[in-house]
Amino acid sequence: MNRQTIAAARAAALRAELQHHAHRYYVLDAPEIPDADYDRLFQELQAIEAAHPELLTPDSPTQRVIGAVLDGLVPVRHQVPMLSVHTETDTTPAGAEKFDARVRKALGLADDAPPLVYHAELKFDGLAINLRYEHGELVQAATRGDGETGEDVTHTVRMIATLPKRLRGVTAAVLEVRGEVFMRRDDFEALNERQRKLIEAGARGEKTFVNPRNAAAGVVRQLDAAKAAKRPLSFFAYGLGEVLGWAAPATQGGVLAALGKMGVPVSPDSAVALGAEGLVRYHERIAARRDSLPFDIDGVVYKVDDLGLQAALGFKSREPRWAVAHKYPAQEQTTLLQGIDVQVGRTGKLTPVAKLAPVFVGGTTVSNATLHNQDEIDRKDVRIGDTVVVRRAGDVIPEVVGVVAARRPADAQRFDLYARLGGHCPVCGSAITREEGEVDWRCSGGLFCAAQRKQAILHFAGRRAMDVEGLGDKLVDQLVDAAVVRTLPELYGLDVAKLSALDRMAGKSAQNLVDGLAKSRQTTFARFLYALGIRHVGETTAKDLARHFGQLDRLIDASEAQLLEVADVGPIVAQSIHTFFAQPHNLDIVRELRACGIEWKEDDGTADPTPKPLLGLTFVLTGSLPTLSRDDAKDRIEAAGGKVSGSVSKKTHFVVAGAEAGSKLDKARELGLAVLDEAALLAMLARAGRA
Ligand code: IVH
Repeated sequence: MNRQTIAAARAAALRAELQHHAHRYYVLDAPEIPDADYDRLFQELQAIEAAHPELLTPDSPTQRVIGAVLDGLVPVRHQVPMLSVHTETDTTPAGAEKFDARVRKALGLADDAPPLVYHAELKFDGLAINLRYEHGELVQAATRGDGETGEDVTHTVRMIATLPKRLRGVTAAVLEVRGEVFMRRDDFEALNERQRKLIEAGARGEKTFVNPRNAAAGVVRQLDAAKAAKRPLSFFAYGLGEVLGWAAPATQGGVLAALGKMGVPVSPDSAVALGAEGLVRYHERIAARRDSLPFDIDGVVYKVDDLGLQAALGFKSREPRWAVAHKYPAQEQTTLLQGIDVQVGRTGKLTPVAKLAPVFVGGTTVSNATLHNQDEIDRKDVRIGDTVVVRRAGDVIPEVVGVVAARRPADAQRFDLYARLGGHCPVCGSAITREEGEVDWRCSGGLFCAAQRKQAILHFAGRRAMDVEGLGDKLVDQLVDAAVVRTLPELYGLDVAKLSALDRMAGKSAQNLVDGLAKSRQTTFARFLYALGIRHVGETTAKDLARHFGQLDRLIDASEAQLLEVADVGPIVAQSIHTFFAQPHNLDIVRELRACGIEWKEDDGTADPTPKPLLGLTFVLTGSLPTLSRDDAKDRIEAAGGKVSGSVSKKTHFVVAGAEAGSKLDKARELGLAVLDEAALLAMLARAGRA
């Protein structure tokens, strides 16, 4: 085969592949590959066509705006075509300089002519929408489609809360506003969470979305407007379509400001930029903020600000010469899944982690990404050997969002977490367990498991537990990483000399911690129990257990049946406590801790019980009380025998409400419950004290 034939074959293959992916992306809202991969294929085709112009066909994806109309939505012909902008994929500052140089050349500007004024905007990662207002009234919303004909999506776009149905102070016969519909990251996470629950509950035809852009596209093109209304979308305007009867301002910045005054959402992050230098600065400034924006952007867009100059510059192969999209490093890439490791989290949660062929995504090289849990692996049908799509956006940890099914090798291997681990924690060897209805497997090793130690130590030292002053999370990290503290009892072996050997440890803080540890030795049975961090044993349960058993040894020896006798201890809690004390290493730790001098007054059960006038009464605290902290109020109610619950129900006896009480107070009123303020609570406690 000669060169020409090879190029022709490759071009045809690329066209077919691009067509396939464009259909998945634009029509089905279900892309198989990330944008960055699509861009690469596109550029390869562009390069071939540039080198072999005779191979260029009018229907090549490089020659038209791709997209087609989905069955079910009504086609809308755009009065003014909706075009795309040229993408500058050079993500370095040179990308901005090249654009400025092209524009200056096209305008015939001399090298020493003053810098051009640009309008720089965010490139929102959603979908383009044309909003048609007639006499100020929103009459139609349409997608871009193929640029000539889009789809009528008025029914879903009308549901966007921030979009005006009527423009303020506008009489123009026709005013078409163009902009991007997108989904904020927090809205996207919440939507997927709800979708996962629906799927778990067996709902048919429901799916999760791979990224906010896809979710937005899916919602906009949803046929059922009521469903769309529950899925929050956002909108920012960036331009105009057909305009009749309105004298538009002379600049892009002026147009957006005018739209803003009419009540149309416009981004506050646009800016006027002077020359290439200004564009580069904008690109860098936004890059630094990209991760903290509440929505995804895939770059910035530069536009010649003066609309007169825009008209003079015109178009080249259906792309405006006056605008360019300058990209940032992609937040999604494909790479090879080489293996799956299991990581033990701070609470014993076992997370499958993808071991990837290193890939540059979201600005860094990523070789590990979370697979969340076994259910997610099964749902996405991820197999070792697959080509997977990795996403890293914002400060969210990198995750595997899907598989490129077409690139699966014949020997790709399924992964089963339990089988792989042989039922044992990879760090400490303890049994792994999964409770009914939960997706996560957990290590049952508790305090014994190294991976859980940091969290265990922090919990142990917490204010509501052993209350060790001077032990924060940075120090715990240091102590564990340097292997100075491997077990809880070793905390009590710390002295100023050992601590001062640590990096950045001042003598004063060392002494503070030693004093804090000494003070913490005097505690209560309930605090000690809570401090152990037994799963499902929160503060209240710890208090109930302490009261019921009186002595640690009795609790340790209790059978599950005996544990079930404790008020509010159900089978799951009973089993968890029993399992904990059945592990010899946990018993060792408890014994060693006591040998460190931790003590409390044990109640052998013969002493007169203190009066509990609030026994059997359940309280809910909401809002902030004028003098008591939430913890103080809770302690006082519990000392008098009452219970404090986190949520209002028919079983609640009193709701104690302070300033800015929210939905709990509403619920209390709805249920007709007694509502107390702090003074009434204190009066009740005072009476209780005399009783
Ligand atoms: S201007 C003729 N400005 O990116 C110029 N587009 O290919 C029309 N986009 O289809 C586009 N933010 O969906 C423009 N500030 C912005 C944008 C923006 C996002 C999207 C839009 C367009 C694509 C560019």
